[in-house]
Amino acid sequence: MGAAAEPNPRTSRSSGTLADAANAASHVGAAPVTRRNDFEAIYVDAGGDRSRVPWNRGGTAGAPDPALIDWLDRDAPTLLRAGSRVLVPGCGLGDDARELSRRGYETTAFDLSATAIAWAQELDADDAVRYSTGDLFEPPDRWLGRFDLVAECFCVQSMPPSWHEAAVAALANLLGPQGVLVSIGHDGDRPATEIQGPPWPLEAANLCEHARAAGLREVAPTARGLVGGRMRAVFVRR
Ligand SMILES: C[S@@+](CC[C@H](N)C(=O)[O-])C[C@H]1O[C@@H](n2cnc3c(N)ncnc32)[C@H](O)[C@@H]1O
Repeated sequence: MGAAAEPNPRTSRSSGTLADAANAASHVGAAPVTRRNDFEAIYVDAGGDRSRVPWNRGGTAGAPDPALIDWLDRDAPTLLRAGSRVLVPGCGLGDDARELSRRGYETTAFDLSATAIAWAQELDADDAVRYSTGDLFEPPDRWLGRFDLVAECFCVQSMPPSWHEAAVAALANLLGPQGVLVSIGHDGDRPATEIQGPPWPLEAANLCEHARAAGLREVAPTARGLVGGRMRAVFVRR
């Protein structure tokens, strides 16, 4: 995708037909899904072929993010119980959501792209109801403060840097009192001024600063250089 100007997350609105399609397909409350989303075009153009989705993992079968798997294996059992309520924002084709559900967590997933959600529902036909089209910045009220775990992979980094603070605050608002936020993205502290995206750069220090501003604290030093060049940070409410 080409470089994009940085719109303001609170005010930018798309007038494109793809956004209109997403609007029509929104299942999340009455909130209109009108935010600019170039990702919709990628899912549409992929035409049902995973290999044409740039962030696809695991070939034609798809696979959950390896840094999420690592955290689920090592750390999740001490923080979560079976049946914990988990939210996957920007879920794309639902690979992480399916894995979380398979592990016994009560999983909800959403994405701004109506095409991604329709695709995820097709892949998970028995559990299609867990997926909905929606905007991180306009969650339904019933989701606020509800989740034991919010697991985001590349959702924040899919947005330009000027949106990151608001995005992390929006993620924090979804956490219950003991809720955990796991944030996974590309590693590499490249200065935001040098890079165009997506994926947009997000330095670990900035992520932690945004989390602190949102009332969260880091539970362990941010893990760097993980498999697949991942950075992973884990936060809880202060
Ligand atoms: C790079 S993709 C990653 C998809 C998935 N998490 C994965 O790892 O395979 C980023 C996703 O975030 C979604 N997204 C971007 N902004 C969003 C927003 N404001 N609300 C919900 N989803 C959003 C995009 O539509 C896209 O599917």
